[in-house]
Amino acid sequence: MTHKSWAEPWRIKVVEPLRMTTRPERELAIERAGYNTFLLDADDVYIDLLTDSGTSAMSDRQWSAMMIGDEAYAGSRSFTKLQGAVRRYYGFEHVIPTHQGRGAEHILSRLLIKPGDHIPGNMYFTTTRAHQELAGGTFHDVIIDEAHDADSEHEFKGNIDISKLRALIDEVGASRIPYVAVAATVNMAGGQPISLANMREVRELTRPLGIRVILDGARAVENAWFIQQREPGQGRRLVAEILHDMCALADGMTMSAKKDSLANIGGWLALRDDDIAEGARNLVVLYEGLHTYGGLAGRDMEAIAVGIEESVSEDHIRSRIGQVIYLGEKLMDAGIPIVRPIGGHAVFLDAAAMLPHIPRDQFPAQALAAALYVESGIRSMERGAVSAGRDEKGENRYPALELVRLTIPRRVYTQAHMDIVAESVIEIFDIREKVTGLDIVYEPAHLRFFQARFEPVKRLVGTTPRAHAIGSLALVGE
Ligand code: F0G
Repeated sequence: MTHKSWAEPWRIKVVEPLRMTTRPERELAIERAGYNTFLLDADDVYIDLLTDSGTSAMSDRQWSAMMIGDEAYAGSRSFTKLQGAVRRYYGFEHVIPTHQGRGAEHILSRLLIKPGDHIPGNMYFTTTRAHQELAGGTFHDVIIDEAHDADSEHEFKGNIDISKLRALIDEVGASRIPYVAVAATVNMAGGQPISLANMREVRELTRPLGIRVILDGARAVENAWFIQQREPGQGRRLVAEILHDMCALADGMTMSAKKDSLANIGGWLALRDDDIAEGARNLVVLYEGLHTYGGLAGRDMEAIAVGIEESVSEDHIRSRIGQVIYLGEKLMDAGIPIVRPIGGHAVFLDAAAMLPHIPRDQFPAQALAAALYVESGIRSMERGAVSAGRDEKGENRYPALELVRLTIPRRVYTQAHMDIVAESVIEIFDIREKVTGLDIVYEPAHLRFFQARFEPVKRLVGTTPRAHAIGSLALVGE
């Protein structure tokens, strides 16, 4: 019998107690953290929805595999297992481990991008674009317009707009495009999937021109589940089969094993081409470690190998995304503006819609994440103008989406936790007019969202509503 519910296909063997703080403690904590949830001590957090990256719970099988990790410097048996799992489930011949996803992005960007090159992709991701730019390339967003619209119900908001891609090729020439970066799912669009049909179109357009396709596979299993649920003709196929088909349409992949693969650390770069793989192995020994461990311990590679297999289980993926949808639907029922359709790894609050009284240069999403923490102890993450950083001229980039991400780690929290999260967001929504904007007071050179510091706006601006004029250091409330 198949149940309608997504109930967890596991039971709990080990628990980790949570600590609840008081509101005055949290006010102090967020002030000390410069109103940046990345800078909070995890001990001051009640439910941690900062990220689903490296925060998932491992299974008893993964933990026991770690005990038999082979820590040989070269030719580790654990590497052979990892390589076998990637070959089997993702279908790439060459597998080069890296310490995490950005390690693979770094190697790939150095290897394939020449100064002056252009890299089209379905929306930027922070670390991915940073490595493309450091290698001298320019990123171009060629995602469909619907992806920038929080209210569009398009089922595959991660799709590439083929006419935008074609226009870029016509403008800069195929020889200046080393590859198309295809993310599945698209994190910054709200965890939105790309369809198999669209990936095929991208492949058909690029192949005759000699342009490669590189898949960002961090959440490709989640993407495969959406394809199974939504794409005509895919409903009876296994997620594992769909994943294989997706990978078959790419020349290589960068991977953060901290997401789909249920590991706390790790990643890989996988390739088909022998020469590029050789180049990557040469670089990986410089930046990560020998090509059979790439910055990972043998036990990490064991955990990833088992995690890959568990990640494609139908029961697992159904309950994983089922839980995200459960939270999203609760919020939608309460009238909270969120990105729709609900994505695979997170529910994204539309901070611009929730806090229209805060101008974009006072970072409404950053302010909302801080306020949610102060009110409830729940940690979320800004995904708006702070994450987008600055352009070549040093001006703030203002992406169309100004979001707060409630990211759900895999196999960690229960439905009751999701109920608390929903209640807390609804409470903030009820007092939203009291949330004040933030001024940036410290900004690092790269990926500023990780370490930037803020202060509540104090200045009195003529047209700003009452909340701004208060100028109190308390973030919410008079
Ligand atoms: N690609 C995507 C789509 C990601 O979401 C991430 C990481 C990376 C690449 C980089 O991988 O962290 O292993 O180096 N995303 C995390 C997040 C940080 O919270 O979304 P990494």
